Amino acid sequence: MQAPKRGGYAGEVQGSKLSDVQDNEAVRANTGISEFDRVLGGGLVSGSVVLIGGDPGIGKSTLLLQAAGARSLTDEVMYVTGEESLQQIALRARRLEVNPDGLTVLAETCVERIASAAAESSASCLIVDSIQTIFSEDLPSAPGSVAQLRECAAQLVRLAKTTGLTVILVGHVTKDGNIAGPRVLEHMVDVVLYFESESGSRFRILRAVKNRFGAANELGVFAMADNGMREVKNPSAIFLSQHPDAIPGSVVTAAFEGSRPLLIEVQALADQSGTGQSRRLAVGMDQNRLAMMLATLSRHGGIVAYDQDVFINVVGGVKINETSADLATVAAIVSSIRNQPVPRTTLVFGEVGLAGEIRPVSFGEERLQEAAKRGFTHAVVPRGNLPKKPIKGMTLTGVDYLRGAIEALELG
Ligand code: TYD
Ligand code: MG
Repeated sequence: MQAPKRGGYAGEVQGSKLSDVQDNEAVRANTGISEFDRVLGGGLVSGSVVLIGGDPGIGKSTLLLQAAGARSLTDEVMYVTGEESLQQIALRARRLEVNPDGLTVLAETCVERIASAAAESSASCLIVDSIQTIFSEDLPSAPGSVAQLRECAAQLVRLAKTTGLTVILVGHVTKDGNIAGPRVLEHMVDVVLYFESESGSRFRILRAVKNRFGAANELGVFAMADNGMREVKNPSAIFLSQHPDAIPGSVVTAAFEGSRPLLIEVQALADQSGTGQSRRLAVGMDQNRLAMMLATLSRHGGIVAYDQDVFINVVGGVKINETSADLATVAAIVSSIRNQPVPRTTLVFGEVGLAGEIRPVSFGEERLQEAAKRGFTHAVVPRGNLPKKPIKGMTLTGVDYLRGAIEALELG
């Protein structure tokens, strides 16, 4: 057989020895906001592109203006706005007490002009607020269309990679199908952060869903105040509801987000269905996971909930994406059905398998330590997560099966 034909002569194209390639990982610039730095994986990496998405009005511009102000103390920052007038930005900067000196603002929506302005300036960081408002002259379609979004982002990514400029793109999450959301850009950028929040809550959670320079799933917690976004240094406290007594249907679990454990309260309400079909609703958690937990509970816990409406809510507007909350979810449901509270000082975590087995999760000890720090005295956890050394101030119960867990929580 003939060997397949090779492509044309590659000319001067040559690879580099990996050992000769300089990594610019060390060149991290702090944003002056430590929760923001944490989510970024330790600050902004030069030549990287960061996408920050979130619902309109959640606080993207506010946080970035604050970060721009702090960055501009040492480096020049260019803030491009396609949404607000320069006067509005100035007004907001004054309210946020942002130092205006090293900050260049530009009201411009043409990406070619933005790129050349950034390249000509001595800025080390370019913020584009928002990517949906800018357009490329090369394309006939309207700003905000998928084609425009991709083209504009591609030009800015190229700019970042060739000049070492750090680019931060703001993207509005839109429910309207006509305007493309930030999702279509996720694969093009280095870091993707999303703001989450419970409607009406002043707390904002910034989550890294992709990070080429740090842990994905890392969380930063902020509170929106009169003078901008304030960091929440002790986030475990805000995800626990503030009632003094134990109430049925409420169980505290320890999630592990990025690089830190976080105590989170899962609430369940089970109520006799009035109609033929019972309702299942989960807020802050995967709906399918809830259905699975209910089926497992019925088969392996002997607790039937088919005639019950079951609602799950994760307190504080945080979304749990890990299976470690399974056992707490099940416990909360049983607690609500039995109308029997789980003590406020009991921590519950663990994955529930479809055979009713309780599986260990990663970072068990870190989760237990966090709970001990917050005054928890008892924990019901997978047997595989029992630490070798005791945790000071805590009694630990290791469980293997769902029935055992229900008994250990005295919900049987
Ligand atoms: P903004 O940063 O403009 O949101 P986004 O850029 O994500 O659309 O935030 C707007 C909201 O934040 C607005 O409802 C007013 C409120 N806000 C404060 O509560 N405090 C402040 O200091 C600022 C600047 C805004
Ligand atoms: Mg904005």
